[in-house]
Amino acid sequence: MKAVVHERYGPPEVLRVKEVERPEPQQDEVLVRVVASSVTRSDAGLRNTEYWFSRLLTGVRRPKRIVAGMELAGVVEQVGASVTELHAGDEVFGIKGGANAEYVCVRESGLLAHKPAGLTFDEAAVLADGPLLVLSTLEPQERAGQRILVYGASGSIGTAAVQLAAHFGAHVTAVCNGKNVELVRSLGADEVVDYEREDFTKRGETYDVVYDAVGKHSFRRARRALRPGGLYMSMDLGYLWHLPLVVLATRWLGSRRATLGIGRYRREDLLLLKEIVEAGGYRPVVDRVYPLEEAVEANRYVETGQKTGNVVLRVAS
Ligand SMILES: NC(=O)c1ccc[n+]([C@@H]2O[C@H](COP(=O)([O-])OP(=O)(O)OC[C@H]3O[C@@H](n4cnc5c(N)ncnc54)[C@H](OP(=O)(O)O)[C@@H]3O)[C@@H](O)[C@H]2O)c1
Repeated sequence: MKAVVHERYGPPEVLRVKEVERPEPQQDEVLVRVVASSVTRSDAGLRNTEYWFSRLLTGVRRPKRIVAGMELAGVVEQVGASVTELHAGDEVFGIKGGANAEYVCVRESGLLAHKPAGLTFDEAAVLADGPLLVLSTLEPQERAGQRILVYGASGSIGTAAVQLAAHFGAHVTAVCNGKNVELVRSLGADEVVDYEREDFTKRGETYDVVYDAVGKHSFRRARRALRPGGLYMSMDLGYLWHLPLVVLATRWLGSRRATLGIGRYRREDLLLLKEIVEAGGYRPVVDRVYPLEEAVEANRYVETGQKTGNVVLRVAS
């Protein structure tokens, strides 16, 4: 089968589209024929080792898993002997390492669910990553009625945060570039601030949470826009270095707190997301669609840090 592989760490140019062995499903796994996958900032970060500590998970000298990608949408081709809920022909979406490929095996009890009715494969292929990171960090279910500001509202995590916070009943202020104001408003933001024209910290408004979805702001600057007891959460993993100091300082010196959001992929969040999509409470934002053969170009674009929403890698027609 065809797959996007990288046998060493480095820039997008280390990626190759190659023939590799098709995986065989274990008893509790299904074989999915991938129709569409994606390229995320996490995929790029794990390949270019933007943060060296990611190598502790992916292989210190060389990548342990050479096939790139994590998000997938496709059709179940074959099921293992103990699989009960899924059947050949079912349309599914989810997350599994090695998804930039024609086939991938996923445990039935893993991060896999039926594709929500009404979504295309391209949309379903970018459905899981941003929302699952938001559900496990911002925890929007717990924030009904709160005032949440999403900084970097036009990215993958940002577009998910705006929609899910609004869906669960928060008052959402979104901060983005002027060109994305209408898009972000259409996602359910109550207020939108164009960061090129206005500094949200000088509006005289305060928030329960400032959720820095792209890690481009800072607690020091966001502090005056936080209510007493308010929380600044950065999604930038580089924040890890400042975190011990900031957390200690904010615990002891003030009532406003700062923290790093460490996202997790949880099956219960995937199933919840499917329900929200089917109820009309969430729609994935697709920026560009690249064919599998153009994986290098897709990764170059993702690494600009300027995509709007998500980038699809089309695997099959
Ligand atoms: N903590 C975790 O668990 C975790 C997990 C995965 C990823 N991450 C990290 O989370 C971050 C966001 O990921 P993502 O996929 O959402 O990113 P993304 O989609 O690449 O974000 C791109 C968006 O960021 C906006 N942006 C760029 N510079 C900005 C600035 N200075 N101010 C405001 N907006 C700006 C851009 O919009 P404009 O056109 O408005 O500039 C663009 O729409 C990345 O750093 C990624 O590595 C964290």
